[in-house]
Amino acid sequence: MRAFQSLYFAVLLAVVSVTNAALVDDIIDAITGAATCAACHTLFVPLKVLAALGDKPFTSTFKVICKAINVVDDDVCEGAVGQQAPVLAHNLRSINPLGQTATKLCDSLLGLCQQPKVNAYNVPFAKPAPASYTKPQAGKKAPFQVVHFSDIHIDRQYTVGAEAECTKPVCCRNYADQAGKPISKAAKAMGMRNCDTPTTFVHSLLNQIGTNNKFSIFTGDLVEAAVWLVNEAEVTSDINTFNSELASIPKVKVYPALGNHESAPVNLFPRNGTKKGSAQWVFDAVSKGWEPLIGQAAAQQAKTKSGSYSILVPGTNLRIVSLNTVYWYKTNFWLYDDNNQFPDPNGILEFAASQLQAAEDAGQRVWIIAHMPPNRYDTLHDQSHYFDQVINRYKHIISGQFYGHSHQDQFGIAYSDYNNRNANTAVSNAWIVSAITPRSNNPTFKVYDVDPDTYEIMDAKVYRADIDDPNFHTSPSWTLGYSARQTYGSMLTNPSWPAASPLDAKFWHRVTEVFEKDRRAFDIYQGLRKGPGNSVEEVACTDDDCWKDTICELRGMNAQYACRRSTPGLNIRRRDENGTEYLSRVHANAECAGAGISHVFHELPGRKDSVDWDAVRVEIDAIIKEAEAEGAAATN
Ligand SMILES: *[C@@H]1O[C@H](CO)[C@@H](O)[C@H](O)[C@H]1NC(C)=O
Ligand SMILES: *[C@@H]1O[C@H](CO)[C@@H](O)[C@H](O)[C@H]1NC(C)=O
Repeated sequence: MRAFQSLYFAVLLAVVSVTNAALVDDIIDAITGAATCAACHTLFVPLKVLAALGDKPFTSTFKVICKAINVVDDDVCEGAVGQQAPVLAHNLRSINPLGQTATKLCDSLLGLCQQPKVNAYNVPFAKPAPASYTKPQAGKKAPFQVVHFSDIHIDRQYTVGAEAECTKPVCCRNYADQAGKPISKAAKAMGMRNCDTPTTFVHSLLNQIGTNNKFSIFTGDLVEAAVWLVNEAEVTSDINTFNSELASIPKVKVYPALGNHESAPVNLFPRNGTKKGSAQWVFDAVSKGWEPLIGQAAAQQAKTKSGSYSILVPGTNLRIVSLNTVYWYKTNFWLYDDNNQFPDPNGILEFAASQLQAAEDAGQRVWIIAHMPPNRYDTLHDQSHYFDQVINRYKHIISGQFYGHSHQDQFGIAYSDYNNRNANTAVSNAWIVSAITPRSNNPTFKVYDVDPDTYEIMDAKVYRADIDDPNFHTSPSWTLGYSARQTYGSMLTNPSWPAASPLDAKFWHRVTEVFEKDRRAFDIYQGLRKGPGNSVEEVACTDDDCWKDTICELRGMNAQYACRRSTPGLNIRRRDENGTEYLSRVHANAECAGAGISHVFHELPGRKDSVDWDAVRVEIDAIIKEAEAEGAAATN
């Protein structure tokens, strides 16, 4: 019996070794063949076997591939892959490589699959919508002002004099592998292109917005984008420092929302039901830091509701519902560790619906504030669709939605019927503000004129600081870029938009109708997205399909209707299988998601021909042999 057993184990061992020797070939064949969605699923089969050997060989293999693709510096590969690959290994061990979760992961990681058709789910509501509702009338009283800023991305290691034209995703820091090299462009005091925001500029901004407005909203991303280096200690310290700075602004309160950079590794917020990992440390940190701004009850919600809270703004009838939308974010890899589909990870939709119901019961009006707008290529279609149900249920009391994340000045429209998108079915609209960080655009914030009865937006004025202004580094000044009512309202004729009417969903739908008919009007919007003086190649349209798709995206708060397709690679212009050109949104992904492994591995399909696969094979072979020798194995 014993002899038989040891023979059995010897045979088993031999089989495993043979499998693992072939594994190197399987992995490389699958990687070099990964050009379609089906091939991406096929790639996950050997990667799952590799993941079963443990996080270490899996991560080492991905580091080798990252360096071989050569999109980012080796230290960025080390850091980004070192942090994020263990989550992928956990995912692959947990899921069927051919299932729906794997399809979503192929979309997120490589851009090789399109998102599957949305899974049917009805968000439960406590009560049906009321049969009638009389909205107060806007335009009777003088508006008050609210500042909206976002994506401040503060770099506490920003160093004046450091290289501003480096090879990393974020410059103006002293990097170890740059030491002693001559400086081609030295970082100045208040911020530079390619760099995140220095503390000096944060203080200048906070002084600026600390006066002349009733309150401010900040829609997240306070941590810098050197994401391959951030860790829990640094993010916690960044959260604490900025929140005490916010709390110290004289007079003016800031209502914040949580961004995808407020975790480490970046973007990665584990689901509350996952077997591994937790982001509770983030929620604890923001809860503590926000308490002076939002009070104890809302801070307690932020702690127990994954960073979401709601608060009645003192002295008003306006409830702000601040949501953590990172659980709807494609690049949050923790969402792919189960074959089951979870309609409402961490109960964010449930929380939103409960707070909206409370507002409806109390006769209040509501603003939704959050970091990631749920209408982009990087939103999970399922959650965007379910959130759209929430918006449609409570549309009568929602006066506006406010987001950041895209680093662009944009808007979005929600409809009651996406098959008939017109001014009558337009029910809610989103205001998306560009970033404070000067990394790719001039720092920008919006000042809203808010109607004191309806809390609707009567005008949005966009202010910018010009980093090329000679005085910028001594005393940065903010100048009015444009007024939305003037710029877009004047486009509406026949009939014109009444002065007493808010800039609501119907207004914005009519603006998109002008964009459809008048390419010059559309180009005004395109030019404002990144602001004057900035590189617009990411958003520029050179053909009519792009023009059409961009308008469709504006009309796509329910993301499945936003005419966006996932693509591998960072190329801006792509062609689909029928040769039709369409816009790729992946380039912008580098800004929002940072140089994470999704950013790097989107490059794989396009770069695989320039990789020396024989050299890669030798390295991976050694990694797998070492893992075998150590008898490594992992479960979950
Ligand atoms: C965990 O998530 C579920 C939904 O998936 C939600 O109902 C529940 O409230 C969440 N719990 C916490 C503590 O976030
Ligand atoms: C390409 O054309 C075929 C046949 O007309 C069509 O079924 C398919 O959906 C098209 N693909 C895309 C991406 O539009």
